[in-house]
Amino acid sequence: MNFYGAQYDPHVLREIVAIELRASGVNVAVTLPKSLPQVWSLLARGAFGTKPAAVKALADSIAEKTGVDAASVHQTRHGLVIVLAKPADLRRTLSTGELLRAVLASGRRLGRLAVPVGLSILGDPVLLDLADPVSPHAAILGATGSGKSEMARWLLYWLAYRNGPAVQLLAYSPKPDYADLYGCAAMAHPPIQSPGEALRLLAWLTAELDRRMAAGAADPPIVAMYDEVPTLLAVAPDADGMLDRIASAGRAVGIHLLLGTQQAGKDAASGAMANMPARLVGRVSSGTLAYVTSGKSGTEADKLLGRGDFYLVRHDAVRLQAPLLGLDDWERLPYLLAANELDLPVAADIFQPAGARRGGSGWNASTIDRDAVAAAFEEGATLRAVMEQFGLGYTRAKRLQEQCMEAGSWSD
Ligand SMILES: Nc1ncnc2c1ncn2[C@@H]1O[C@H](COP(=O)(O)OP(=O)(O)OP(=O)(O)O)[C@@H](O)[C@H]1O
Ligand SMILES: [Mg+2]
Repeated sequence: MNFYGAQYDPHVLREIVAIELRASGVNVAVTLPKSLPQVWSLLARGAFGTKPAAVKALADSIAEKTGVDAASVHQTRHGLVIVLAKPADLRRTLSTGELLRAVLASGRRLGRLAVPVGLSILGDPVLLDLADPVSPHAAILGATGSGKSEMARWLLYWLAYRNGPAVQLLAYSPKPDYADLYGCAAMAHPPIQSPGEALRLLAWLTAELDRRMAAGAADPPIVAMYDEVPTLLAVAPDADGMLDRIASAGRAVGIHLLLGTQQAGKDAASGAMANMPARLVGRVSSGTLAYVTSGKSGTEADKLLGRGDFYLVRHDAVRLQAPLLGLDDWERLPYLLAANELDLPVAADIFQPAGARRGGSGWNASTIDRDAVAAAFEEGATLRAVMEQFGLGYTRAKRLQEQCMEAGSWSD
């Protein structure tokens, strides 16, 4: 129920907004509101001489008169868009199917690394294309619960769905955010949850960067998602430099980074962030953080509604609603019987100077002490324990276990 005691009828909403603008001396034509998952949007086209700032200044009184929780005014190339937050009981989620239909209806052809990240406040699909030189990497920022991990899940899901094994995906989060991707054909390695293993993955990625640069190779594209970056930097401050290198040199060799963190500050890979002209910014808790996270003034990320309400910030800032993956969606992905797994370098090798590393130039994990592993198995250590103690992946540990058994050094 709003100011005039009326229901949230689109015609009534438009009338109220038009009256409020006219009463304040702003001469604009207002369209009927479009109903989006969490908001209504009205397009306001001004006569020559109408100042956007004059409309923006009326956001609060528009919210009050229409009886919505919050109103904001966005400048777009189609004109000013007045966005009214729906009351909580009228908000709904955007399904992946609804987004897909909007993409099909738009007739846009999507490159293999172009992800429709959501619907704009005008109802159009918004694309983040990692193949575009202006957005080879992206940061995903926002307060806790703003929808960063869901956004990251969607990005990975889409890339896996669109490309299958023609793309190599990697994912780290200390939370089980990416467990659904386990065994998916596009995943080059199972999703990682421990910061130590995430560091080893990063070392592998840096070595892969060097290898590709030397060979002039750029295929297949690799997309690595590092969520909650500060948890990685807490165990390995040097990871900052590695992320920075990949962000600055990865594009040319087909290595793309997605970095998630609650806020962009000095604890959150500031070097790599500086090389991230594309940012997905969810709700933050203050105006100062809105400025810091978006790297732009006027992007009011503190006024977003959460639950997938984001800005895609590049040269401009586009507000969008992200989709929420449903359980059924995962059934559409191709899965493998045995998950792909990379041979990650051993933790102890990562920060040794190159000359001191045994086994030549690569991070090929050739330096593990087979006798010690065999002894551990002989003493009855479980596979999981050996994986942790020696920093081995599942495949490699299993192989060593089998070798130990064959060599007869295994007693059961
Ligand atoms: N696009 C969306 N549509 C609807 N609801 C969403 C969307 N994205 C997130 N949510 C809701 O918000 C909750 C929190 O989302 P998510 O886990 O992605 O937050 P986060 O930003 O990663 O938080 P944290 O920093 O604590 O990890 C989800 O469990 C879901 O209920
Ligand atoms: Mg999260």
